[in-house]
Amino acid sequence: MKKYNISVIKGDGIGPEIVDEAIKVLDAVSGACDFTLDYEEYLMGGIAIDETGVPLPPETVPGVLASDACLFGSIGGEKWDDLPRELRPETGLLKLREELGVYANLRPAIVYDELVNASTLKPEVIQGCDIMVVRELIGGIYFGQPRANDGQKAYNTMVYTKDEIIRIGKQAFEFAMKRDKRVCSVDKANVLEVSQLWRDTMNELSKDYPAVELTHMYVDNAAMQLVRNPKQFDVIVTGNIFGDILSDTASMVVGSIGLLPSASSGDKTAVYEPIHGSAPDIAGQGIANPIATIESAAMMLRYSLGEEKAADMITNAIKNVLKDGYRTKDLAEFDAKEVLTTTEMGDVIANYINK
Ligand code: NAI
Ligand code: MG
Repeated sequence: MKKYNISVIKGDGIGPEIVDEAIKVLDAVSGACDFTLDYEEYLMGGIAIDETGVPLPPETVPGVLASDACLFGSIGGEKWDDLPRELRPETGLLKLREELGVYANLRPAIVYDELVNASTLKPEVIQGCDIMVVRELIGGIYFGQPRANDGQKAYNTMVYTKDEIIRIGKQAFEFAMKRDKRVCSVDKANVLEVSQLWRDTMNELSKDYPAVELTHMYVDNAAMQLVRNPKQFDVIVTGNIFGDILSDTASMVVGSIGLLPSASSGDKTAVYEPIHGSAPDIAGQGIANPIATIESAAMMLRYSLGEEKAADMITNAIKNVLKDGYRTKDLAEFDAKEVLTTTEMGDVIANYINK
């Protein structure tokens, strides 16, 4: 029987709650298919600060690299907000991504037919929407040097090299080849030099993909277009900060941020994580929606482990659970037959795997 080693980083806030449910569902699906999963836990974020004094302990990166893939929850919380920047949980996450070289953050935003009424947007605007946001993850303004804040003046720097743009651009074009063959590159080339290089490089790269239609859009317009007519998009490719913001926007097309999974992948490994944060406002209450993390686990099976069938089983179980009216609190107003806690939602999805 095939065996995979999964590194697990639960993190802070709702992180442990949602990761436990993803593991529950993974175990249900591996039991039904022909493989086993071994889990090894590593620390990162606020909990790592509390237990070791630093947000990214030295054993975490090698542990993840030695595993077949990493499942991650979320980090951060008010408790650590006043620490100096280099000691904050978020710095641990940025360092983890950088050291693992996971430059491509893939964020599918797919509207579930069962939840067309869950969005604040009209059903006819969102039904059938299926967008893949390809966000560059280890460059741009979150990483650029110099950066400083002396209390009077503060700055960050947005940097992209041509090679970084080509690397992420290729991912977008390759995805488009398997989808509707349309890439929309989002930038701010009307005011930013870094965006001009981005746009020129995408145009150059598109010559290698004649079957794919490349369009460009300024980020402010893209934010508007995403809520005006999200179905116009197939693959969106963009830099770190724009992708961060646009994928949260896309989550409102889908209905709840608790539904959106992601994969952060590079040449060495991949990390699978929900797009949301640690949701301190609801942590510990058992009301977080675990579906984003469970669907991230499905992406892990699909992209890192090649277990397509198991991945499809999870995705179908989620669809059927939603179809039968099971909801967590974030979606309680939308055709709910029964409102479940985080653990109950994990249980129901695991049970549906074997239905
Ligand atoms: P957030 O994504 O944690 O929460 C935004 C809103 O969405 C909150 O009202 C929250 O309750 C809700 N929400 C998030 N996930 C949910 C789920 N699974 N089910 C139901 N509702 C959910 O973003 P926020 O509040 O801006 O940040 C909170 C903390 O998380 C901060 O410390 C931030 O730095 C950190 N963060 C961490 C990320 C990560 O670990 N990848 C990403 C984004 C933020
Ligand atoms: Mg974000």
